[in-house]
Amino acid sequence: MVDHKINEIDIVKVEKSRVNEVDFDKIDFGRVFTDHMFVCDFVNGEWQQPKIMPYQPMTIEPSARVFHYGQAVFEGMKAFKDNSDNVFLFRPEDNHERINKSAARLAMPEFPKQYFLNGLTELLKLDKAWIKSGVGNSLYIRPFIIAIEPAISAAPANTYRFMIICSPAKAYYTGKVRVLFAEKYSRSADGGVGFAKAAGNYAAQFYPTSLAQKKGFQQVIWTDANTHEYLEEAGTMNIFFRINDTLITAPTNDRILDGITRKSIIQLAKDNDISVEVRRISVSEVKEAANNGTLKEIFGTGTAAVISPISAFEHAEKVFELPDVEKSYATLLKQELLNIQHNLTEDKHGWRLDV
Ligand code: COI
Repeated sequence: MVDHKINEIDIVKVEKSRVNEVDFDKIDFGRVFTDHMFVCDFVNGEWQQPKIMPYQPMTIEPSARVFHYGQAVFEGMKAFKDNSDNVFLFRPEDNHERINKSAARLAMPEFPKQYFLNGLTELLKLDKAWIKSGVGNSLYIRPFIIAIEPAISAAPANTYRFMIICSPAKAYYTGKVRVLFAEKYSRSADGGVGFAKAAGNYAAQFYPTSLAQKKGFQQVIWTDANTHEYLEEAGTMNIFFRINDTLITAPTNDRILDGITRKSIIQLAKDNDISVEVRRISVSEVKEAANNGTLKEIFGTGTAAVISPISAFEHAEKVFELPDVEKSYATLLKQELLNIQHNLTEDKHGWRLDV
């Protein structure tokens, strides 16, 4: 690999920031982007000189492989600001590790860690004014890699582009989420790409999710493709079930995303002496618990979604409404997570990275 000195990112700054044009109280997730973006191309087997430049449209040939074969992987991460104007990333090394696992599965080159972390840091320094302090505010960060080689034979590309764009964010889901348990469609299969943050995993969910939305459910909880009996993940979130006082979530495998919020919540639950079982959980177990009153909560976890309580689920045309619960685990764990992310509490697991 060419040893570019990473501090030598080529930087072109905007002439005038757009930050004052944005109404931060009225932010729709993922529609407004900060002043700058990070770009690094992979050419002739090497990552080239990284660049930061004003956020702008780019020219890619219509024959670029990403448009034809979907060689595209991404990450979701967030930066937070505390009340003293310090900026923090949350577990960024885990995102780096995961984008490289995703990339390897799609026959794409891995991106060097030093480039990833320095690129993020430099970008956040430039776009710091876009990060608002206060719990509930964050900057959503979207690193991604696409195959840009102009060639349409069905083979992995030789040229790629790694980029980072950033978008100020508030809540992803407002209010409680109603979900449908998948009975027909599948998100992923054994040996497939379900564990990867591959763009196609999301596209494949849009149609079945739109059918669920027509019935009044925002999300589908995907079940295993073989039997549709075991609950896996919601596509934008990993899923936790609270039966009595135990939290249960599916083990990660090659069908399920290894969520960074998921594993943080497992740790925080343990820190609070909440019993956690990482094991397969079946539709019948959840329905039985709903019927006998032991199903106390269902919630999703994800970077964008944070923790989203689920208020109802449907399976086999029957709707199960979850009653409101006192001392909700979702509320407790969300608060603890946000307190760590916003530097309001001790970070005993070393999850924050001071930018
Ligand atoms: C994230 O939580 O970062 C995700 O990737 C979900 C996204 C599709 C908004």
